[in-house]
Amino acid sequence: MTPSLAVTRLTVTRFRSYAAARLDCDARPVVLTGPNGAGKTNLLEAVSFLSPGRGLRRAKLSEVERIGGGAEWAGPGWAVAATVLTPTGPVELGTGRDPGAEAGSERRLVHIDGRPAKGQVALAEHVAMAWLTPQMDRLFTDAASARRRFLDRLVFGFDPAHAGRLTKYENALRERARILRDGPHDPAWLGALEDQMATLGVAIAAARADMVSRLAAASAQGVGPFPAPGLRMEGEVDATVADRPALEAEDTLRAALRDSRRRDAESGGAAVGPHRSDLSVTYLAKSMPAELGSTGEQKALLVSIILANARLMKAETGTAPLLLLDEVAAHLDADRRTALFQEILATGSQAWLTGTDAAVFAELGAAATHIRVEDSHLTTLDLAALPLSPPGRGSG
Ligand SMILES: Nc1ncnc2c1ncn2[C@@H]1O[C@H](COP(=O)(O)OP(=O)(O)OP(=O)(O)O)[C@@H](O)[C@H]1O
Ligand SMILES: [Mg+2]
Repeated sequence: MTPSLAVTRLTVTRFRSYAAARLDCDARPVVLTGPNGAGKTNLLEAVSFLSPGRGLRRAKLSEVERIGGGAEWAGPGWAVAATVLTPTGPVELGTGRDPGAEAGSERRLVHIDGRPAKGQVALAEHVAMAWLTPQMDRLFTDAASARRRFLDRLVFGFDPAHAGRLTKYENALRERARILRDGPHDPAWLGALEDQMATLGVAIAAARADMVSRLAAASAQGVGPFPAPGLRMEGEVDATVADRPALEAEDTLRAALRDSRRRDAESGGAAVGPHRSDLSVTYLAKSMPAELGSTGEQKALLVSIILANARLMKAETGTAPLLLLDEVAAHLDADRRTALFQEILATGSQAWLTGTDAAVFAELGAAATHIRVEDSHLTTLDLAALPLSPPGRGSG
């Protein structure tokens, strides 16, 4: 049997519009359809919390707590629990916000197989995922940080340690900024932090560069009818990493940090480092920056990148990532939609697809689990109940 990565049970408790809900499924893609406000995106967001970070809405943890619905099912704390099939066997993941958490606390609890994990980054060891949401229609015009996050999430799939390196790098960056601002200017301590930032920074830039070059190769001919994206990392560290061995690149970054202390004390950040890099994307066939493309063209480029990543992971690790595709299918023309479905089925990825119209997904037929979402209640749909089911399978 091919190893797969799939959520087979998902429970949410006091999670946004859900009091408590449970979904049982298998490794097939999951289609969630229902009216606006039914709770489709909320469920995708719940799945997104099975990976490190702030989830697909980048919400504050307290925003996720359920509002309304009576004391028992509203108020502080929320939880997401899942059984996930992984290539190394099933794993039980749990995450959420402690009901006793202080008002401003953004600490997300994580349990793996019933034991508390040190931090969220441990989730990256078990689950790889990528997502596309309507908000990401602006990814190419957004701040560079959004594109870095997008790319870093793809890197997690191949290199789970990337998540931990980013956290450590950011902590060192913050600590150095604090010292530069508040003192005392202990040169040894500053040097040690810059040392850490140099080592981690070069590793981060190298992992991104590697990801980008493999993604570019995997999507060079386009992905089915989706266009080939031109992909390149831009930034000082990225340029250094590209033409120097790692140790030399670390020395360069370390020296640059030491030289920018005075400037950084004023700006409160750091003038160089992988936190200033950007993922540059172009529409290859038109030699045009992605942000100049039409809405549909930009979306198609994103779909290319996501699918190329799934192909790559499947080819290199044998397992495709989870894909959370919020309102993606409805905006594609029929040919591209069919191509998207076929690509998902070919990689064996458990894609979670949402839309308001079940007919859009009917061609997936028995290849997917179809769920009706209504008023934050979940009902598994019978194949016969699908609109426009193929001839020979009953109702039409
Ligand atoms: N913290 C919260 N507590 C209770 N309800 C919430 C909370 N946050 C969001 N909601 C509600 O959850 C409902 C479902 O939202 P969701 O985004 O999942 O809908 P959807 O099915 O994706 O709809 P659409 O098709 O419009 O995208 C909305 O009515 C929203 O107001
Ligand atoms: Mg939605």
